[in-house]
Amino acid sequence: MSDSDEATAIQLIIDGTEVTGHAGQTILEIADSAGIYIPRLCWLENLTPFGACRVCVVRVNGRIHSACTLPATNGMVVENDTEELRGFRKNLIDMLFAEGNHFCMFCERSGACELQALAYRFGITAPTYPALFPHREIDATHPDILIDRNRCVLCARCIRASKESDGKGVFGFAGRGIQKHLIVSAEGGLAETNIDASDAAISACPTGTLLRKRTGFAVPVGERPFDRTPIGTEVESTTGPTPPHASTPTSTPAPAGKE
Ligand code: SF4
Ligand code: FES
Repeated sequence: MSDSDEATAIQLIIDGTEVTGHAGQTILEIADSAGIYIPRLCWLENLTPFGACRVCVVRVNGRIHSACTLPATNGMVVENDTEELRGFRKNLIDMLFAEGNHFCMFCERSGACELQALAYRFGITAPTYPALFPHREIDATHPDILIDRNRCVLCARCIRASKESDGKGVFGFAGRGIQKHLIVSAEGGLAETNIDASDAAISACPTGTLLRKRTGFAVPVGERPFDRTPIGTEVESTTGPTPPHASTPTSTPAPAGKE
């Protein structure tokens, strides 16, 4: 380790475990490196953190923060896996199901959907809140890509990936509050944009909102990422930051009550 590395090395405590990182890393990044899973939904490796979903909230020296956006500093004491925070996250995920139209049994992303996988991880077996059944537009104009806004959780991963990885800016948000929704950069729909089926923006979607056409069941039911292992296992079973990435089309039974 060089002198400059030693100068920027920091130590913090996460869930009672002393971990090390470097100044400039977020709490979530250091936790990943240490094999400690902090649940997340809007965060995706290599994209600018957005801090929107709040699923990654932790207590830092007693105060609530988003682990994906807060830079770690030396001596921080972070609480992550507590009853309070598990309950907070579970409630957030529960509300996301109520806000959209999620019919997991009929969704091609089932088994590779991070929202569904989080519901399983948090033991959500039946909805707590009444479904709002919002009216959401489907965009099937593009020959190779489908947008089903019924499953959109407004995480902005597609927006950031389109800008930062694809260099395009195909997606955005419009509206406020319950009216907030995903838009594309052409009035005539996705077909009039310069998106390509191979774009990172599509792979970045954690749910079944952005789908590649004619890829259904390319990966059979039962062989999809979260059919085999719960979300978070990839962090807990390794020491490398490799978050789940719902880029593979799929389908498995939904959490009971979530179909
Ligand atoms: S389309 Fe997918 S990636 Fe984009 S905001 Fe909605 S859920 Fe997130
Ligand atoms: S993952 Fe941190 S706010 Fe969404």
